[in-house]
Amino acid sequence: MNLSLRPIIVAIACTISLSTFAEPGEKIYKEVCASCHASGVLNAPKFGDKAKWAPLIAEGQVVLTAHGYVGVRGMPAKGGNPNLSIEGFSDAVAYMVNKAGGNWKTPDAKTLAAINKEIEARKAGLNQKK
Ligand code: HEC
Repeated sequence: MNLSLRPIIVAIACTISLSTFAEPGEKIYKEVCASCHASGVLNAPKFGDKAKWAPLIAEGQVVLTAHGYVGVRGMPAKGGNPNLSIEGFSDAVAYMVNKAGGNWKTPDAKTLAAINKEIEARKAGLNQKK
């Protein structure tokens, strides 16, 4: 390859990957969550509504992600998509949180393990109520 072109090609590749992966949850948010969260259907915390999201953000990433994944009142488990992985769901939550004043990242392995543990605990608790 002509060496003088390399920096340009690298720059283009970086721009493409940044725009694709800058906010990993965006695609899932748009595909799965926006139908309710964009407008606040059924009193869903609305996208970008800092006042609504502040107390949820305060619950912390592990608890909020786990409880959302299991389902909370009008919030269907997995956002209503049975095929949605916990990784994908976590990213979508982080995306909404970050658009409402938070600063969450894609959970690392340790955080993910804590989320999965909380999911099991939550499920067990919900089952007891029946
Ligand atoms: C069918 C409508 C609907 C869809 C689709 C939906 N949500 Fe929700 N969501 C709700 C409603 C309604 C609430 C409020 C629940 C409540 O507190 O009563 C909610 C609440 C939440 C909460 C806060 C949970 C808590 O502990 O209070 C999170 C986090 C959340 N949703 C994330 C998501 C994500 C991520 C997706 C997409 C993967 C999604 N939701 C898709 C309706 C929806």
